[in-house]
Amino acid sequence: MTQLAIIGGTGLTQISELTVIRQHTIDTPYGSPSADFIVGELNQKEVIFLARHGNPHKLPPHKINYRANLWGLKQLGVEQIIAVAAVGGISQTMIPSHIAIPDQIIDYTSGRLHTFFEDNDYPVTHIDFTYPYNPALRARLMMAAAKANLSITPFGTYGCTQGPRLETVAEIKRMENDGCHLVGMTGMPEAALAKELKMDYAAISVVANWAAGKTAGEITMTDIEHNLQAGMANITHLLKTFISLE
Ligand code: HPA
Repeated sequence: MTQLAIIGGTGLTQISELTVIRQHTIDTPYGSPSADFIVGELNQKEVIFLARHGNPHKLPPHKINYRANLWGLKQLGVEQIIAVAAVGGISQTMIPSHIAIPDQIIDYTSGRLHTFFEDNDYPVTHIDFTYPYNPALRARLMMAAAKANLSITPFGTYGCTQGPRLETVAEIKRMENDGCHLVGMTGMPEAALAKELKMDYAAISVVANWAAGKTAGEITMTDIEHNLQAGMANITHLLKTFISLE
């Protein structure tokens, strides 16, 4: 089996079913990753787990050292990454606790260190990013979702905002007009950096809340945590089924 990594986001700081084999503290030319890389077994198969926001969860999306995280995974021989991330639901079907496997990205972030090709590299490198998420890996995730009897949405355009604040109603309207179904804060530059390092990357989005203006009232952290808890049981089930099919 190719070396698989799971990057856990908000609500998935650790996977309780993971039997830890060893931990790696890795320093990279780009600085420190969010946390130690945990090598463990899930369903008797080896996976590497990284808590994107650190463990305990302390790094806001704009402070995550995405380059160090991806570089560290590459050093450990990772070839495939499944990235789990909480999102806000923009389109009507993206109800709280629902799971989607996005297929496209629009990047609204600014000022993040977003590339490994930042110097005067010769030749100048432009990676192809037509399909930001690896189609074959996405297909396998969908097969796993079917096997696990989970009703998921097998597509979605993920809009990545800078955060850490949530969006305004007007911003979400604009994103909806742009074609976004989901809004999150961590999908970029993570997906692009994985592609730069030639690692297959796919995401599982779990809806934590309705995006701004999609429901009456304000978005509270209590609601987000509650919805994530409900969604995360399904995420663990999906990940375990995915691994059992490998
Ligand atoms: N917006 C951006 N990121 C998010 C949201 C949201 O509403 N919910 C969870 N992550």
